[in-house]
Amino acid sequence: MARVQIIAANWKMNKTIPEAVAFAREIVQGVDFTGVEVVLCPAFPALGPVAEAVSGSPVRVAAQDVFWEDQGAYTGEVSPVMLRDAGCRYVIIGHSERRQYFGETDETVNRKVKAVLRHGLIPIVCVGERLAEREAGETFAVVERQVTAAFAGVEEAVAAGTVIAYEPVWAIGTGKNAAPEDAQAVNRFIRELVGRLYSPATAAQIRIQYGGSVTPENAASLLGQPDIDGALVGGASLKVSLFAAIINAASKALL
Ligand code: 13P
Repeated sequence: MARVQIIAANWKMNKTIPEAVAFAREIVQGVDFTGVEVVLCPAFPALGPVAEAVSGSPVRVAAQDVFWEDQGAYTGEVSPVMLRDAGCRYVIIGHSERRQYFGETDETVNRKVKAVLRHGLIPIVCVGERLAEREAGETFAVVERQVTAAFAGVEEAVAAGTVIAYEPVWAIGTGKNAAPEDAQAVNRFIRELVGRLYSPATAAQIRIQYGGSVTPENAASLLGQPDIDGALVGGASLKVSLFAAIINAASKALL
């Protein structure tokens, strides 16, 4: 069965509640969703309002992070229970900005992945090498370590439905996207790794996005690669026209 492309807008720390809601409404009304799953990832305060704005439409909502406990004395944190309550279906986990600025590690990523799955949410697990690691020829080793750690103790039955986002750190926000064939090679490696960790059937089912300077101009060539099942879009997801053009490229890549 063909994998449905998943195009997600990671707004990072951008957009007020009214801006986020207005964007969501425009996407719901203006986009052809045939064969594409569209996900909006607002900051925490806008999650509930955006979920309400897209309710009844095929658009899904994701949080950008989560904590692994259900509740308790963890000032400033947000639990999977709260994210479900707010209307989320997905949760981005292990984004490189969390790893770089907020002390996220392979171990905390794993705890978060297991926590959201316990509550019926779907993790979008971010992995990717830094520039120095790429230059040292360590790309595959880094990605293997990150994916293996993220899925430690995750059962096959739920792993198949999760999403992995390959985001080379040097491509994020730099305007320098990975060459489509290089991204394809890493995504293929990740799929083969999932096959080794679980089974070929799970490898065939799991969706693996690419992220890092995706634009309307380069989307079709990236999304046309056999092992790239969607995009996690930062900068170009902040404007409706650009994000809609990337969604269109995803539906065309299916033809
Ligand atoms: P840019 O699209 O701005 O490079 O960001 C990618 C990203 O980090 C998505 O999570």
